[in-house]
Amino acid sequence: MAEPALQRYADAARQVAGDDSWVSEAAGSPFGVGQYDDPDALADLPSAAVRVSLGCGNPTAVAELHAGETVLDLGSGGGIDVLLSARRVGDTGFAYGVDATPEMVNLARRNAAAAGVTNVEFLHGMIEALPLDAAAVDVVISNCVLVLSSDKDAAFAEIARVLRPGGRVGISDIVRTEPDDGTSCDVECGAAAIGVDEYDEALRRAGLASVSIELTDPLGGGLSNAIVRAVKPRSSVG
Ligand SMILES: C[S@@+](CC[C@H](N)C(=O)[O-])C[C@H]1O[C@@H](n2cnc3c(N)ncnc32)[C@H](O)[C@@H]1O
Repeated sequence: MAEPALQRYADAARQVAGDDSWVSEAAGSPFGVGQYDDPDALADLPSAAVRVSLGCGNPTAVAELHAGETVLDLGSGGGIDVLLSARRVGDTGFAYGVDATPEMVNLARRNAAAAGVTNVEFLHGMIEALPLDAAAVDVVISNCVLVLSSDKDAAFAEIARVLRPGGRVGISDIVRTEPDDGTSCDVECGAAAIGVDEYDEALRRAGLASVSIELTDPLGGGLSNAIVRAVKPRSSVG
């Protein structure tokens, strides 16, 4: 059973888990899928990976992945960005997903098996205490998950720890652009959103550099989608 804060994700995973259709057969437009500018890229993925997409961007494009790289997706959900990453890094690369909701991890593993993708591994764990060794990955991506964390300093420190020196971060997330005036936000996860400056400072405090935060789509309620990039300096220890 998932923790209460994660229950909605467990429910979402359960809802699509019984659906064995493929994307071309899927009805409706899931929340996150509209963010992928090339819908054809989703065509080879199991419906259950796409229909449970709950992201707010396309971090695999943001991170500009290359063949042979090792990628980690924080809060990988049904696995959509891990599966897309696996395709981009190819047979010589590898993609990990970490998610706190066991139902999502199980769904993602099932989706990978259905897609016949073998250069991936889905791990159950928290982004604030990643189940990976230091300097294990070249790239960290994430899609609408950091915003949910109530301990962003811990999550950013973990990103810096698991990245190899010279490794990079490409994140789609939600940031606060105006104070919360109590008007609603139609994005449930906006409650723990932080401002651009706070986000920038927290990444730098974790030892990351070349930080950039680009606002993309305003969401209302003082929130905006954003693309976050950063690099782990080659000289840093960690
Ligand atoms: C908004 S959904 C995004 C899922 C996926 N990235 C996507 O684009 O479809 C958030 C996901 O993050 C996971 N999650 C939330 N908080 C987490 C945490 N602290 N550590 C690890 N996973 C977390 C949830 O279980 C859920 O699968």
